[in-house]
Amino acid sequence: MKPIRIAQISDTHLGQTDSYQLLGMDTDYSLRQVLKLFDQSGQHAELILLSGDISNNGYQQAYQRLYHLLEARDNVVWLPGNHDSVNLMKTVCAERWFRPRIVVGNWQIISLDSSVPGSSKGSLGADQITFLEDALQAHPDLYTLIALHHHVLPVGSDWLDEQLLSNQQAFFDLISAYPQVKAVTSGHVHQATDREKNGVRVLTAPSTCIQFAPNSPEFLVSTEAPGLRWLELYPDGSLQTRVERVQDVEFHIDLSAKGY
Ligand SMILES: [Fe+2]
Repeated sequence: MKPIRIAQISDTHLGQTDSYQLLGMDTDYSLRQVLKLFDQSGQHAELILLSGDISNNGYQQAYQRLYHLLEARDNVVWLPGNHDSVNLMKTVCAERWFRPRIVVGNWQIISLDSSVPGSSKGSLGADQITFLEDALQAHPDLYTLIALHHHVLPVGSDWLDEQLLSNQQAFFDLISAYPQVKAVTSGHVHQATDREKNGVRVLTAPSTCIQFAPNSPEFLVSTEAPGLRWLELYPDGSLQTRVERVQDVEFHIDLSAKGY
């Protein structure tokens, strides 16, 4: 059985210029290292999923740089995070990368916008909930992967879990009525988690720049390397996933940072 392969690339946090550093880390450089890892893997991906916080401060220049970096690839989809400006993302490529519903084989991949203007917390607006429900109702025959920026299950870090998708209970109530939903994947937490709730695989991806330390009540960065998450969706509805991190590259990072 040949799977549909997705590379989830998350939380790139690019700045206004290509020399921008986030807590000491050059985020353009770290992204390029992750893309190198992707290219050197030799794995074909049907989709490159950019799961939010593309820019650290919603800079148009950041979106343009990323667009130029990936524009030769015809298989990119992006969705916004809390650090992004949806309007500026749309000025860079309104049509090409905003693809809220994609069908590949017998899977549909639904991308949702959980960003709330002016807030780091996540929430799905009524329009997003309706869009999701309509897609699930209309296509009971398609296995479904849902992607959004904010995490939908607590990760065990108080400061991050305060920003959990605020209507995650309503989200789970909704998808529990649709057994074709097989997995949900998010960014935001800058760490890899792999869990299950009500038979649905619930995943998060590492960032392509700084990583947050797991199970820390307060803001804390870890020394783990930037990386990406691979997802393989099989025709029988099963899924395999793994995280791959950059190796043998030294990244500068301010480990004493108390926030960003
Ligand atoms: Fe982020």
